[in-house]
Parts: sequence; C-alpha cells; structure tokens
Amino acid sequence: MFSLVARCADSQGRGKACPLGVLETFSLEGMTALVTGAGTGIGRGLAVGFAEAGASVAVCGRTPSTLDETAVAIEAAGGRALAIPADVTKVEDVQRVVATIIETWGSLNVACNNAGVNNWVDSVNLSEADWDWIYDTNTKGAFFCTQAEARVMIAAGSGSIINLASMSAHVTNRPQMQAHYNSSKAALVQLTKSLAAEWAPLGVRVNTLSPGYTRTEMADAPRTREAQPIWTRDTPMGRMAEVDELQGAAVFLASDASSYVTGHDLVVDGGFTVW
Ligand SMILES: NC(=O)c1ccc[n+]([C@@H]2O[C@H](COP(=O)([O-])OP(=O)(O)OC[C@H]3O[C@@H](n4cnc5c(N)ncnc54)[C@H](O)[C@@H]3O)[C@@H](O)[C@H]2O)c1
Repeated sequence: MFSLVARCADSQGRGKACPLGVLETFSLEGMTALVTGAGTGIGRGLAVGFAEAGASVAVCGRTPSTLDETAVAIEAAGGRALAIPADVTKVEDVQRVVATIIETWGSLNVACNNAGVNNWVDSVNLSEADWDWIYDTNTKGAFFCTQAEARVMIAAGSGSIINLASMSAHVTNRPQMQAHYNSSKAALVQLTKSLAAEWAPLGVRVNTLSPGYTRTEMADAPRTREAQPIWTRDTPMGRMAEVDELQGAAVFLASDASSYVTGHDLVVDGGFTVW
C-alpha cells in the first residue's frame, strides 16, 4: 500500500515513520528538477517556483544569457541551479541535458517540458516550414524530452513529468488563426495520457498543465495587443494570468501532493474554457 511518510525522530532521536502533513506533501525539498525553455516567461517562473518549494533546478534553452538570468533567480529563491544550453528539437541535445543532470546531481525527480512556440497563420497560407517548426518543438520535442527523462525515472522507480500544453488543446482561439499550434497542443495532451498509462506501473506520473492567456512574450507581444480585449472579454475572470499564478499548479503536479494524479490535464485559464 502507498502512503506518504517521512522519517522523523522519536523522543530518543531514533528514526521512525511518520505521516506527512498536507503542506509537507507539496514540498520538493531534496528533489532535483528540470525545466525546458526556462530562459523566459512561464518556464522561468516555474523554475523559480520549484526552487522556492525546495528543489535543485536545472534549466535548458537555446540562449545562454537568459538561462544564466534564470539561474540567478533560482539561487535567489534558495535553490541550486544548473544552466544547460540545448535545443529541444534535437534529440541528442535532450539526452545530453538529462545525462548532465545525472552526472552532476545523481537523480532527476521532476521534469517540466515547457519549451514551446507559436505563430499566427491562417491555414490556407500555412507553410510546411511553419507546420514543422510548431510540431518539432511543441509535440516531437516534448515527446523526446519526456522519453529521456522517463528512462532515468523508470530506472529509479519514481518521477513526475509535467508537459506544458494549453487551453488551445480544447478550444479554438479567436481572433487569431493558429490551427497548427492548437492541434500540436491537443496532440501533446493525448500523448501525455498515453504515456501516463504506460508508465504508471513503473512509478512515473505524467500530466499536462494547460494555461490560458498568460502575460509573457508569447501572449503579450506587440502583435497581440489588438486581440487582448477580445481575450479578456472571453475570460470569465476578465484578465490574463500572471506567470506566478501557474506556480502553485506546477508544484502540485510535481510533488507528492498529487501522488494519485496521472494522465490529467490541469487547465488554469481563469474560466476561459467554461464559456
Ligand atoms: N503565454 C501563454 O498565454 C501560453 C498559454 C498556453 C500555453 N503556453 C505554453 O507555455 C509554454 C511557455 O510559453 P511562454 O508563454 O512562457 O512563452 P515564451 O516564448 O516566453 O517561452 C517559451 C520558451 O521556450 C523556448 N524555446 C522555444 N523553442 C525552443 C527550442 N527548440 N529549444 C529550447 N527552448 C526553446 C523559448 O526560447 C522561450 O524561452 C509554451 O509551451 C507555450 O505554448 C503559453
């Protein structure tokens, strides 16, 4: 039977099993985590959130200077940081990232595959290059990250993987046209459910986190300004999310607080998908 216990000292200072309190189940103390695409936006925010919850956090992305800034923020939050430049569309890069974490820290307990790209193109004019860019990053890249992470987690008998999908896996956004992006995220949700079923008996949980419109470069760039009033009108809470508002959901999925949750898509969208 699975139970959440820690070793605590009894009155004679001997170790004994004791049940974790609910807040302790959210702790990532002593764990190691990886966040991809962590030089900016949601990835940086989640990396700092994991550090605040107690984890040592490795970050990867293509731009060393922004990764270094995230590493400074992780250390300011009290965590150990490891910045590893890598492109998630290259399987050999992804395998090198996981190998570096194992060589440096000896374990990988939590992984958050956040790297993603988006552009707006109507489908009649969509090029093969744009299709490949979106799918290579959002779907194929996330899959091969998940595979490399799961291999070491399966060997260790436990782990939690979080794939960043989107509410766009469930709704068709407006006014922008982005059928390729929406379908790449829907594929990621179903891929994650399938992997959750395969790896549940091996101790590895796999879930998706699906944000609504969140104030980052992706959704708050100058090109999006005209669309924003439509987005907020269509959101019951009447506003976009701040990155910090995703940290709690990610720590929940990463930690023992979600020990019986796998194959789930956790939508954090201010109610957008309700309407
Ligand atoms: N911002 C939103 O409104 C929103 C909503 C739903 C889902 N998402 C998803 O959240 C994730 C983070 O997006 P964000 O809003 O922080 O945008 P962002 O553009 O700030 O962050 C994406 C990060 O991924 C990195 N990246 C892109 N391609 C990469 C590659 N090949 N290898 C390594 N890194 C790569 C980028 O350099 C960037 O740092 C994405 O998967 C996105 O699809 C965002």
